[in-house]
Amino acid sequence: MRGLEGRRAVLTGATGGLGSAIARRLLDEGASVALTDVDEGALHALAGSLGGDTSVAVLDVADPDDWARTVEAVRDRWGAAHVLVNNAGIGSLGTVETETRERWDQVVAVDQLGTWLGMQHVGPLIEESGGGAVVNVASILGATGGLANSFSYAAAKGAVRAMTLNAALHWAQRGVRVNAVVPAFIGTGALLDRYGGSERHRAMLANTPMGRLGRPEEVAAAVAFLASEDSAYSTGSEIYVDGGWAAR
Ligand SMILES: NC(=O)c1ccc[n+]([C@@H]2O[C@H](COP(=O)([O-])OP(=O)(O)OC[C@H]3O[C@@H](n4cnc5c(N)ncnc54)[C@H](O)[C@@H]3O)[C@@H](O)[C@H]2O)c1
Repeated sequence: MRGLEGRRAVLTGATGGLGSAIARRLLDEGASVALTDVDEGALHALAGSLGGDTSVAVLDVADPDDWARTVEAVRDRWGAAHVLVNNAGIGSLGTVETETRERWDQVVAVDQLGTWLGMQHVGPLIEESGGGAVVNVASILGATGGLANSFSYAAAKGAVRAMTLNAALHWAQRGVRVNAVVPAFIGTGALLDRYGGSERHRAMLANTPMGRLGRPEEVAAAVAFLASEDSAYSTGSEIYVDGGWAAR
């Protein structure tokens, strides 16, 4: 892929199933990656297993002070950032009737507010660095009715898509592209541990036109494309990595 060699990327939720695949792919493409997550032990383990030019920062995406510290650390180490991948996210299972206010607040804080704060803090550094790309990780549950549950998650991921469009227009002539990937169900270790063999797992498969879960590497490939110069004329766009979900 063109234009990732030597670029500096900030990745949230780096130690999760998708985050670690995205980190690996960006490093394979020659980028440097600031690995961030709330789980410090997992961050150091991941950095040790990856090799390449990485840094590690504990970052709660819902905390503006953490973002300010992370941006300063990236500026000190590399003097620049060209890519932000807003990947950190948490889920919910409640329906429109059963969701709790407590879970709603948690999910919106991480998935929605966290994505905004990431763009607000790192976007200016990308512009200052000569331009680059933001990639927001949305979800098919924010683009369709999904499985008629995960209500607060669907609301927050729908907002991620709306924020992607709005921010894309804001920065359109200032060198900061903003796009989203929209995955359906991806067979990460955590997802399979949680749901493998369950009714929900069967529903995921039954509702996926391709009849299989996605692979983390398939999401990472779309993220790398949107982060690279190969997508130089795309902003405010979405890549569905969904086994045909959106076509149903
Ligand atoms: N796996 C899927 O099927 C799927 C489908 C669509 C979208 N997504 C989205 O992809 C992203 C990654 O999901 P995943 O499957 O790798 O999940 P995961 O649970 O494996 O990873 C999520 C990561 O986010 C981190 N995290 C949680 N709260 C945080 C916070 N407040 N600040 C910073 N980091 C925090 C966790 O520590 C974890 O490392 C999420 O945004 C998720 O909603 C996943």
